[in-house]
Amino acid sequence: MRTAAIVPAAGRGERLGPGTPKALRTIGGAPLLVHAVRALARARAVDLIVVAAPSDDVLAVERLLADFEWGAEVRVLPGGEDRRESVARALAALPAEVDVVLVHDAARPLAPPELVDAVAAAVRERADACVPVVPLADTVKEVAGGTVVRTLDRQQLRAVQTPQGFRRFLLAKAHAWAAEAGEQELATITDDAGLVEKLGGCVVAIPGAEEAFKVTRPLDLVVAEALLAKQRADGAR
Ligand code: CTP
Ligand code: MG
Repeated sequence: MRTAAIVPAAGRGERLGPGTPKALRTIGGAPLLVHAVRALARARAVDLIVVAAPSDDVLAVERLLADFEWGAEVRVLPGGEDRRESVARALAALPAEVDVVLVHDAARPLAPPELVDAVAAAVRERADACVPVVPLADTVKEVAGGTVVRTLDRQQLRAVQTPQGFRRFLLAKAHAWAAEAGEQELATITDDAGLVEKLGGCVVAIPGAEEAFKVTRPLDLVVAEALLAKQRADGAR
């Protein structure tokens, strides 16, 4: 039995602004995707990494990743129109012996390998699925038409990161459900765990890591660059 990690990396990165697809934007001289794959490859649990690349850049990504000695098998395939489709394509390409699947955004380049292992261990030991979560820093309000409707109880809310981990059969079942579901049903589901929740799966939450934040807007790229420089100066990389 093996653990595979799927890396959705096919997004354009609209919120980052015009330029190269987000996964290929660089920090510390290497693309976000290379950092994300490194985090997974350094985890003890991961045997196979499958990258869903932007469909125009599959060959370029294959060449890029072939330049490194990963210590885990790495495969590349074309991603889809949205994140869910990218994950579904990679999932469909996994070998039969894989029984635990992690899904990790290329846009989270600095997730600690220890977090990857903690998620995989939680699935192996005690759960259908596992998500890393962090408390919210800001107060959260529901707003409609520019007016506040209500304030949510921040104590009960968490921001969810990746890697998320799953029993393979359950994630496959969840994606099969999604492939048949209507747009309305899928509208509020923005992660893989959300699909599993829809099927009634037990999703455990474990403490996430600040470093696993997602590069979404230009400021995030500045933060990632600075964090990586600090880790290198501290000898942590
Ligand atoms: N992703 C993907 N396939 C898509 C869309 C997104 O594999 N068709 C991936 C992204 O590459 C990213 C992850 O899903 O690693 C998280 O998505 P997000 O942060 O939204 O990235 P983008 O969709 O690229 O960014 P934006 O929404 O700003 O365009
Ligand atoms: Mg997106």
